[in-house]
Amino acid sequence: MRKNIVAGNWKMNTTLQEGIALAKELNQALAAEKPNCDVVICTPFIHLASVTPLVDAAKIGVGAENCADKVSGAYTGEVSASMVASTGAKYVILGHSERRAYYGETVEILREKVKLALANGLTPIFCIGEVLEEREANKQNEVVATQMESVFSLSAEDFSKIVLAYEPVWAIGTGKTASPEQAQEIHAFIRSLVAGKFGQEIADNTSILYGGSCKPSNAKELFANPDVDGGLIGGAALAVADFKGIIDAF
Ligand code: G3P
Repeated sequence: MRKNIVAGNWKMNTTLQEGIALAKELNQALAAEKPNCDVVICTPFIHLASVTPLVDAAKIGVGAENCADKVSGAYTGEVSASMVASTGAKYVILGHSERRAYYGETVEILREKVKLALANGLTPIFCIGEVLEEREANKQNEVVATQMESVFSLSAEDFSKIVLAYEPVWAIGTGKTASPEQAQEIHAFIRSLVAGKFGQEIADNTSILYGGSCKPSNAKELFANPDVDGGLIGGAALAVADFKGIIDAF
């Protein structure tokens, strides 16, 4: 089901106390509001069980930033999809460029993670996007097409539960945002890939978020594009005023 979504990705930030305070502050900031989009906060694992009961679930969804590609067992340090779901979290970011780059997450590994997330009732926010060299070589389309293979092996029914997030790596944390035209062009391409695989109806019902230096100052212009359905927000999600400024762009 296609929705406008603003999702925060806290990354490896906030102690337990800071995270609880941030969640409470956001919950309070939205208490009297009726956002024109779904709001999600994806937090470090340590926060999930504390934050889910704190926020108004009718307004703020909670998610993890990753989950294991195994069901359970001797995988020290890993956190499974079922563990994430047991906290009350409903979303999980998968395939973020930082995990692909630093932790070697491949198309195959992510295929397993997506399947396990869906099997445990979680909504994957599945990230794709090219690095600067690939953009400069005009290879962004083939890069995202390859990355989409992780979710193209799903049934049409399961794919329809996925949220996609296009994040040009060269825009993440750099302040160098993709232009609205660049965002619209590749979002439309991604949607055409989905249409080619699953048909136009599922493509038209897929939420495709933009991530990469999305700020209150540029969110409205980005979200005004027909194929941009919201944002996946890093730095600006750590300051409630900024995060709300992006939510208010809808
Ligand atoms: O997942 C969202 C993140 O990668 C974007 O980060 O700080 O550029 O908004 P930022």
